[in-house]
Amino acid sequence: MRANELRKKYIDFFKSKGHREIKSASLIPENDPTCLFTTAGMHPLVPYLLGAKHPLGTRLCDAQKCIRTGDIDEVGDPVHLTFFEMLGNWSLGDYFKEDAIKFSFEFLTSPDWLNIPLENLAFTVFAGDENCPFDSESYETWRSLGVPAERIAKLGKKDNWWGPAGQTGPCGPDTEMFYWTGSGNAPQVFDPADKLWVEIWNDVFIQYNKNQEGKYEPLAKQNVDTGMGLERVTAVLQGKASCYDTELFQPIFTCLDHLRGIPAPATRCDSERIIADHSRAAVFIIGDGITPGKVDQAYVLRRLIRRAVREGRKLGMLNFMPAVAEVIIENFGEVYPELKNRAAIIIEELQIEEKQFNTTLENGTREFEKLIARVPAHVANKSISGKNAFFLYETYGFPIELTEEMAREKGFTVDREGYLKAYEKHQELSRQGAEQKFKGGLADNSEATAKLHTATHLLQAALRQVLGEHVQQRGSNITADRLRFDFSHHDKMTPEQLNEVEKLVNQAIEAKIPINCREMSFDEAQSDGAIGLFEDRYGECVKVFTIGEFSKEVCGGPHADNTAALGKFKIQKEESSSRGVRRIKAILIQP
Ligand code: ALA
Repeated sequence: MRANELRKKYIDFFKSKGHREIKSASLIPENDPTCLFTTAGMHPLVPYLLGAKHPLGTRLCDAQKCIRTGDIDEVGDPVHLTFFEMLGNWSLGDYFKEDAIKFSFEFLTSPDWLNIPLENLAFTVFAGDENCPFDSESYETWRSLGVPAERIAKLGKKDNWWGPAGQTGPCGPDTEMFYWTGSGNAPQVFDPADKLWVEIWNDVFIQYNKNQEGKYEPLAKQNVDTGMGLERVTAVLQGKASCYDTELFQPIFTCLDHLRGIPAPATRCDSERIIADHSRAAVFIIGDGITPGKVDQAYVLRRLIRRAVREGRKLGMLNFMPAVAEVIIENFGEVYPELKNRAAIIIEELQIEEKQFNTTLENGTREFEKLIARVPAHVANKSISGKNAFFLYETYGFPIELTEEMAREKGFTVDREGYLKAYEKHQELSRQGAEQKFKGGLADNSEATAKLHTATHLLQAALRQVLGEHVQQRGSNITADRLRFDFSHHDKMTPEQLNEVEKLVNQAIEAKIPINCREMSFDEAQSDGAIGLFEDRYGECVKVFTIGEFSKEVCGGPHADNTAALGKFKIQKEESSSRGVRRIKAILIQP
């Protein structure tokens, strides 16, 4: 079965069970300062899992784009990916364990769906511990469906528990489904440590809230959250040892062979896998509006591209990313139209970043070789100092991870602590340290912050008037003292443009305009001409803040009641944030 068919079957199955399909949310979490990327299907649904009403009801399903960069160093082995798609179904206070397990069982084993013989499946359930009881309900449900007891392993919190994301919060036991990938019959008794049993699906049952005292309180409303990795399941259903052997990656490899002018090799090496994985991740991240840069998502993106470029060079390829990106856009553009819509930008960004990196890499590699050569061969515990690692970063754009990787290849270690010290010192000097750590959003709900938030709306409206409608919010960070606003625009703003923007905002303040908030449907907001981050909002009820004729924006608040409260608006700085994104810092001076 091909991945496209699996994705469709999954959605069709859950639709037939009364679920509504939701579109994959962006890879860039909205309003979540704790995470750089969407890491699981449940991530964009957290507000609903915590009790907010979802406009599409209590049964949902989707295929969600995910990025997990924790695994970046393991990419290249057969199972780890930085970008993947997660199929999921949710019950928001609707069905619970019994139905969720019955749905999973039917989808996996029914001849109408995946038709996997029960002999090839095994399961784990939560065994219970001193805080929480054995999940007998899950166990009994599997048993009632004909699963033999020896195919159900009972494991502890380490294996069969999900959440809470922080110290406190919603959490619960899960039950995992495993598929036998060995040749011949699966062993009668399931041993979860046997790597030939591959996990294919996880049903999480959110039934507790872990409180401040570390106690698990039962939740009034119980939810189901499930996750099935599309790439992995495609591979096992096709009898492939690795997801890289499936059609999700093969066209990328064919493209690489073509670029290198070689026939397809029998097996793929780590470099090829890393290129394939990182290119997919980079294409999807740029597809969601990020461009390579120095902080946060932009930095992760840069790191992914640079690592792919470096692996490409090992294979003798230069300037190959755009060709690879075209193949990825072609293969995934139907399911994820944002890739097609932004194809030109994706290709251009990759082209620029690759070219730039090639130049710095050549210069930096020479410098790196010199550093290595200075250390005599007989020295034990060869190491690159933090100062030198920082020099490679600052002057040649070598991310620390890259220096570490190159050092490892030469039998060197890197003084990471020393590097971090040098890095922090540099940050302090450029007075960016604290701010760069901040991931965006509103710092608090104070009156001063609310005023600056309203000023941000005025600023965006003024920027669109002065620079054009291509201006879109790319990030915002507001404290009680100042606002910081990132927006899409390629060129440095001229002093005249800055004056004009400041003037327009101050005129709106002087006009003493009341701020109105109205709730409406997403469609209404859009047809009403409100600006804002619209992706993934369809069907939702949104808040629209209107400031006279000046500004109309979808937003969660809080805001001032009237622009008169704002005082005087002053731009302090306009600078580059990442490629194609400018940053303005501004304050309000109270009379
Ligand atoms: N949230 C669960 C997971 O990611 C389903 O595995």
